[in-house]
Amino acid sequence: LSIDQSGVWRFRDLFPIVKDFERVVTLREGNTPLYEMPKCGAIAGVDWLLAKHQGMNPTGSFKDTGMTAAISVAAERGFEWVACASTGNTSAAMAAYAARAGLRSIVFIPEGKIAWGKLSQSMDYGALTIQLKTDFDGCVKILTELVKKFPIYLLNSVNPYRLEGQKTPAFEMVEQLEWQVPEHVIVPGGNLANGAALGKGFAEMKQLGLISRVPKISVVQAQGANPLYRAMQANGGDTLEPVVAETRASAIRIGNPASWKKTVEVLRATGGWVEQATEQEIALAKAQIGAEGIGCEPASAVTLAGLKKLVAQGKITREERVVIVLTGHTLKDSEYTIKYHRGELLTAEETAGATAAEREEHAGL
Ligand code: F0G
Repeated sequence: LSIDQSGVWRFRDLFPIVKDFERVVTLREGNTPLYEMPKCGAIAGVDWLLAKHQGMNPTGSFKDTGMTAAISVAAERGFEWVACASTGNTSAAMAAYAARAGLRSIVFIPEGKIAWGKLSQSMDYGALTIQLKTDFDGCVKILTELVKKFPIYLLNSVNPYRLEGQKTPAFEMVEQLEWQVPEHVIVPGGNLANGAALGKGFAEMKQLGLISRVPKISVVQAQGANPLYRAMQANGGDTLEPVVAETRASAIRIGNPASWKKTVEVLRATGGWVEQATEQEIALAKAQIGAEGIGCEPASAVTLAGLKKLVAQGKITREERVVIVLTGHTLKDSEYTIKYHRGELLTAEETAGATAAEREEHAGL
């Protein structure tokens, strides 16, 4: 299996993190499609909207681009065990890449709070899968203690090599656009590594003289899991207060994000914004992305929900070119989708402010 077939490792000159490139652990990740989204663009009020679909990676999420990098480092350094705490996608990716590398993996996930598709992946790929009666933030705490005591390689997004892999979609995006740079890139915000990684990718391209400017990178959080949004409102992102997180977009149900400082730096450097989306707005945006024949998991749909708001506020104008990053595949959380289209997802309280058309949509009509 040639590493040149990997959309991540074909950029290896830009992240020389292993000594022996012939031994990297790859599932041919990356090289994901950049889809035109004319219907969603019209709904949001922009003429040019594309979606970089990172859900089209081997395990169905953007995490694969980082995991191929970090697992390759773990394998080269001779670790036997790797571990992560996860809302489901990191664990799915880690389990798969660890299995390919012949490493054992331990996954800590919040019990009952991750989508079935993701739970099943970690079991299928052979990870020791441990559900804890806590949330993601609680899982991180316990794992952090564990790795201090045992020779286990930590694969949460504080791992710097994951960010090296996760910066490569920025290169791909620009390459796919024939070296044009969009005005805006919008990502969902959970543990806040992805925006930081893409920001690094664009900044490096500029440094190398491959592009002459970087896009504004904006981050959208679920309203129920919005510590960065609050921090930006309160003090421009100087400090961040953890929140108790609650959202059906379980991938981003995170109250104490690890990489918030890096993301604040990217926001400041690029001039991007932080927005938040309600449960109703997330569900509607997800259905609209689905109706475009593309689909994504709930956490990814916050990007379109946030775009609508940024356009309405005049922060993004109709002529500006926008790329939303869809981070996970629609099949990751099919239960959410089925409930929504049966009109069983949202409560009356959540849909109280909806228009008549939206209400019909929400009712599954
Ligand atoms: N979208 C999806 C589908 C995710 O799984 C995650 C994070 C995010 C967005 C947010 O990205 O954390 O870099 O800001 N999932 C992690 C996990 C936390 O454990 O799978 P972020």
